[in-house]
Amino acid sequence: MLTQIQSATLGGFEAKRIDVEVDSRRGLPGLSIVGLPDAAIRESRDRVLAAVKNSGYELPMNQFFTINLAPADIRKNGTLYDLPMALALLQSTGQADFPSLEGVMIIGELGLGGDVKPVSGVLLMAMLAKETGVKALILPSKNEHEAKMVQGLPIISVTSLSDAIDKLMKPEVMGEVSSWQPITKIDASTVDFRDVRGQVLAKRALEVAAAGGHNILFIGPPGCGKSMLASRVGSILPHLSDSEMMETAKIYSVAGKMSDREGRWHERPFRSPHHTTSYAGLIGGSAFSRPGEISLAHRGVLFLDELPEFSRLVLESLRQPMEEGLVHIARAQQTITYPSQFMLVASANPCPCGYDGHPTIPCRCTLMNRQRYNIKLSGPLLDRFDMVLTLRPVPEKELFRLPEGESSQIIRERVGRVSCFQQTHRKQTVQNARLGSAEIQREIDQSPNLYKEIISRTPSLRLSARQLHKMIRVARTLADLSGSSHVEVAHLLEALQYRNRYHDIPAAC
Ligand SMILES: Nc1ncnc2c1ncn2[C@@H]1O[C@H](COP(=O)(O)OP(=O)(O)O)[C@@H](O)[C@H]1O
Ligand SMILES: [Mg+2]
Repeated sequence: MLTQIQSATLGGFEAKRIDVEVDSRRGLPGLSIVGLPDAAIRESRDRVLAAVKNSGYELPMNQFFTINLAPADIRKNGTLYDLPMALALLQSTGQADFPSLEGVMIIGELGLGGDVKPVSGVLLMAMLAKETGVKALILPSKNEHEAKMVQGLPIISVTSLSDAIDKLMKPEVMGEVSSWQPITKIDASTVDFRDVRGQVLAKRALEVAAAGGHNILFIGPPGCGKSMLASRVGSILPHLSDSEMMETAKIYSVAGKMSDREGRWHERPFRSPHHTTSYAGLIGGSAFSRPGEISLAHRGVLFLDELPEFSRLVLESLRQPMEEGLVHIARAQQTITYPSQFMLVASANPCPCGYDGHPTIPCRCTLMNRQRYNIKLSGPLLDRFDMVLTLRPVPEKELFRLPEGESSQIIRERVGRVSCFQQTHRKQTVQNARLGSAEIQREIDQSPNLYKEIISRTPSLRLSARQLHKMIRVARTLADLSGSSHVEVAHLLEALQYRNRYHDIPAAC
């Protein structure tokens, strides 16, 4: 008897319908899975047979089963077909007689004891289920909150194979219609800019960077507060809109990292991967083509602490996604594209020992060590930072005397006002960091003084065309912060302060 159950697969950043078909014929007992399954699906055979047995069912000993995952030309991976396979086997052998499997989508991994385990990518599959108008989506109970993000989708969450059988036997138990309101918990203990004493220019630079989505690099000796400042950027960024929240949730769902966002749905992601993170970990890829840290940081912040410690290959591969806001992961059969529009915040010591330019501690590096260190931060990568700032430590005698800084809440409100100004007053849909050449040219054309100032000041700075454009984008953000519709010379001069080039740092060691 042929049985068919609807399921789904992740084809990169979208879900596709897959049908699990089971057919049986008389012969020696056995089970084969066809339809381009990966190793995890081939192992399903053992999990499914054990789960069926341990749930109190027994497959007939005189039958050979063939399971086909259709369409057969799409490569399938993951463990989510265990549950539909087990249910289809029970139906085809007559051990279970479900009233109707028509229009029911089923996903879930099985443990040997018959328990249903969570799978990744459920949000995208739930979206597909809603689009195709399924009668119900049967899914692991631990994934229920993900599916509930898709409003109006009938869902049935199950904890075990027996639970799924019970619920399918009673069609009146068709799932409740999902409705979910993301609740963002306010955590009073989160970091705040108030704790940072002094460092006024660095705080101002971070506010500007947050308002325009600019990439920023801090260079300074150990302990001067680089990590402290960077880790507070998230606290001044405006919250995500509902559509942006869904966009980020999709990425976390595919990566199987929804728990990282629990209770912080509207906060912008802040990712801080360690410098030993692999290429696949940062950019994306690995066996299941999962999104990397740059996609997990989409619409938020990617903080690379101790930038020169990252492998050069990893740093160089950041360039294209930073420019495009997308990352393409090429696999044998297809290329998967994930969004990766993030604000890059990075920190670096000025030299290997860290004390080059320190007011009191002498640097102990040799020239060769220093040169090797500089090479790591290649010109093309540095070129992609809109703002580069050299930090000096706050002197000991001032550290405990300086007053508490402005709270993150106050700064966040100012940054939020800039976003409103950009969208309503200037009808701009992209952040200033992503303004195109035409918009930049328009700013110059609108202000003849600005053009004169640029040609008189910038030749001595030897800036590339990209850096010049970046400087005008930063100046545009400064104009937005002051509520000005044109970029004034004062904005340009402040933007110039944030172009403290890495190679301008005192070279003598
Ligand atoms: N400006 C500052 N105000 C208050 N505390 C500071 C400041 N700068 C540094 N600190 C203290 O020094 C610690 C180390 O700073 P950190 O940001 O880790 O330094 P870096 O990353 O530059 O090596 C911080 O956790 C904080 O306790
Ligand atoms: Mg640090």
